[in-house]
Amino acid sequence: MTSAATGDPHPGRRLSRRHLLLAGAAAGIGAASAVGIDLSTRPARSAHQAAGAATAAVPATDGTETVTFYGAHQAGVDTRPQASVTLLALDLNAGTDAGALRRMMRVLTQDAARLTQGTAALADSEPELAVTPARLTVTFGFGPGLVARAGGERPSWLRPLPAFGIDRLEPAWNDGDLLLQIAADDPVTVAHATRMLLKDSRSFTTVRWRQTGFRRTPAVEKPGTTMRNLFGQVDGTVNLVAGTADFDSLVWGAAENPAWLHGGTGFVLRRIRMNLDKWDGLDRAGREASVGRTLAAGAPLTGTHESDEPDFAATTTIGFPVIPEFSHMRRARSENTAERILRRGYNYDDAPASGSVSDSGLLFVTFQADVDAQFVPIQRRLDELDLLNQWTTPIGSAVFAIPPGCTADGYIGDTLF
Ligand code: HEM
Repeated sequence: MTSAATGDPHPGRRLSRRHLLLAGAAAGIGAASAVGIDLSTRPARSAHQAAGAATAAVPATDGTETVTFYGAHQAGVDTRPQASVTLLALDLNAGTDAGALRRMMRVLTQDAARLTQGTAALADSEPELAVTPARLTVTFGFGPGLVARAGGERPSWLRPLPAFGIDRLEPAWNDGDLLLQIAADDPVTVAHATRMLLKDSRSFTTVRWRQTGFRRTPAVEKPGTTMRNLFGQVDGTVNLVAGTADFDSLVWGAAENPAWLHGGTGFVLRRIRMNLDKWDGLDRAGREASVGRTLAAGAPLTGTHESDEPDFAATTTIGFPVIPEFSHMRRARSENTAERILRRGYNYDDAPASGSVSDSGLLFVTFQADVDAQFVPIQRRLDELDLLNQWTTPIGSAVFAIPPGCTADGYIGDTLF
């Protein structure tokens, strides 16, 4: 489901709109000459008009790209990460019973499917905003409360993570019954889809939290570039790769999970504040040592390229490890290859408190078939020792089960309800 179909859902409409714009521009010039205005004496205005005409002539590109909605797995997990994300956790209202849940998920599924294909939602109040899907995906997740309300079996790991010593969790960012991960390469598309889906769910749920994140837009860097976080680090180098056997078993391979979750996976979100002001006080060598990789290329300190394998045995002339024992990379890597996760995080940058210049960090999103077996041991090791903890603080934590995908006749969650 990584493959994204291309193509304009409304080629005719787009062409005729462009023709109209061009015709309008031409008519404007004609009208100017008819009343004797010399356009060359008005440089600012003519430059503006030229820019407008040029824009009108540029064909639409990736805004029309779509990601398949229906299938064995939900999109938004093995999809190449889009530039913008909104993560929403909703709480079920007291009266939302299993029947209501079913009705809600049907409507949500239908509208999510439509919006991701560039078609207006059923009761779309701004249908013009729906025609630019920009690789929109909508991924639903179920919290323990929703699974209980549906009368389903709870996967053993579907509960809040154990408390870690480094945690400073703020109640505003934890847990929830229903997760919506709405992502696209354009923030207007994300905002519109978010609003449409919240309208669908508002008589059943209440918004618990909303978190927005971003990466660089695909237009500004080479395909395949690993993201950078707001510390400037290359972040996401060692990761599971969609379409590989490892990915299939560690993300989708949920044999131990209840049958309704087969084809699905587990989701963890850690909202991790990054203290950029304190990071400012650290020199480049210290910054690189804290992770064990260079800032320029993201290469291990024992190599030159991002993809080089780190040499953990290498030592300096005075016998210290080149990649420090306390470095984040070293601590995050497990000798047990079953303890691996898909990292699909986003930067956040919110309004700073008075007297501060930033409130930034990572929406650290991961997917793994078994949260207890894969995520928790890594987080435990980082809790015990990780130099990066000097500048990072987990302030939010949530765990959801991501049910499988569905067919066009079904709806997300139909295996549970
Ligand atoms: C704000 C917090 C964090 C920052 C800034 C951060 C940054 C980084 C960076 C720069 C790398 C090296 C490049 C790469 O392979 O991606 C890395 C690797 C990694 N991080 Fe983090 N990270 C953070 C939190 C976490 C957390 C909470 C976990 C898991 C619980 C985690 C798990 C990993 C793993 C598994 C790797 C790959 C290690 C390997 O080389 O095998 N990170 N991180």
